Formats: sequence, C-alpha cells, structure tokens
Amino acid sequence: MVHLSFLLHRRESSFYPTNDHCRLSQCHRNDEKTDGVTFRDADSLEATQRYLLRNPGLSFVAIERDTIVGCIMSGHDGRRGYLQHLVVLPTHRKRGIASRLVENCLAGLERLGIQKSHIDVLQENHSAHRYWEGRGWKLRTDIRRYSFLRSGSVNA
Ligand SMILES: CC(C)(COP(=O)(O)OP(=O)(O)OC[C@H]1O[C@@H](n2cnc3c(N)ncnc32)[C@H](O)[C@@H]1OP(=O)(O)O)[C@@H](O)C(=O)NCCC(=O)NCCS
Repeated sequence: MVHLSFLLHRRESSFYPTNDHCRLSQCHRNDEKTDGVTFRDADSLEATQRYLLRNPGLSFVAIERDTIVGCIMSGHDGRRGYLQHLVVLPTHRKRGIASRLVENCLAGLERLGIQKSHIDVLQENHSAHRYWEGRGWKLRTDIRRYSFLRSGSVNA
C-alpha cells in the first residue's frame, strides 16, 4: 500500500494511507470556499498513488487533533521541483501551516539536490499570488506554459 509522509502539527512524523489524502481532496472539491485549486482526472486515487510512488516522502499533510487541516504535494523530474495542491482549511489559515508545508517540501527536494522549484498558480487566484510573492517566489514573465492533450477529455 502506498503511504503519504505526514507533517504533524506538533512536529511529529508518522505515516498514513493515501485514502486520507483522497478524503482531503474530496473535502476541498466539495468546499466552495476553496477556490484557486483545480482537481482533474489526474488527481484520481490511482494517479495520486503513482505520483507518490515516484516521489516518496515529498508530500505532506498537516494534522490537528486527528483532522487533516492542510496538504501539499511535491515531486521532481531530476532537475526541477514542482509543488502542487497546497490547501489549508479556511478555519486554520494565517497560522503558518502552509509555510511549514512548503518548507518541508523544499527541504526534501534540496536533500535530493533540487535547488529550484516551480508552482503553477491560476491567474485569478490573487491571494495565492500575494502569498508566493510575499515569500520570495518570483513570478516568471519570460515563459508561457503550453499543454497538449492526448485524450479527448478536457478534464484530463
Ligand atoms: C494560500 C494558503 C495555502 C495559505 O495558507 P496559510 O496556512 O494561511 O498560510 P500561512 O499561514 O503560512 O501564511 C499566510 C499569512 O499568514 C501569516 N501568518 C503566518 N503565521 C501567522 C501567525 N501565527 N499569526 C498571524 N499571521 C500569521 C503569514 O505571514 C501570511 O501573511 P501574508 O499573506 O500577509 O504574507 C491558503 O490561503 C489556502 O488554502 N488558499 C486556498 C487554496 C489556494 O489558493 N492554494 C494555493 C494554490 S497555488
């Protein structure tokens, strides 16, 4: 069984099954307050398990009193790191949880020799732009991302 690495709120470490991550994803998919994060077919349980197998120990959730209150996924391609799906429950924001989740990813990537990481942020997610810029992340204006779909599904 695939497991997620966990960041516990009180700096303890443990391991939990991926279906906890799915519960969190589902929770946010159904939570209209969580805008700015897009879930697609590529976020299915199978795809998430594949991602975690390829990137062991680089995805985290924050736990408070047995409840998942935040999560982040990260991975790399051997050269660059990629952060995805950073979400903190609205009730738990502005307590530094996201920053600790991000730091855990960056530290894990650095241990693997990855010094530079990217994150995609939706144009209209203004609060997320403020968040990243406030933490020293540089907005790239020199590149545009192009994507190509091999399947007919627009939600691939
Ligand atoms: C973006 C998001 C993940 C930030 O989560 P968060 O846990 O609130 O983030 P942090 O607590 O680390 O930092 C947020 C702010 O709280 C401040 N803060 C951190 N600890 C604090 C504390 N103990 N007391 C008061 N403020 C604090 C930070 O300085 C930061 O302030 P700033 O935005 O004015 O610079 C969260 O708002 C979210 O889930 N948004 C919806 C999903 C989303 O957009 N995700 C990003 C996709 S790219």
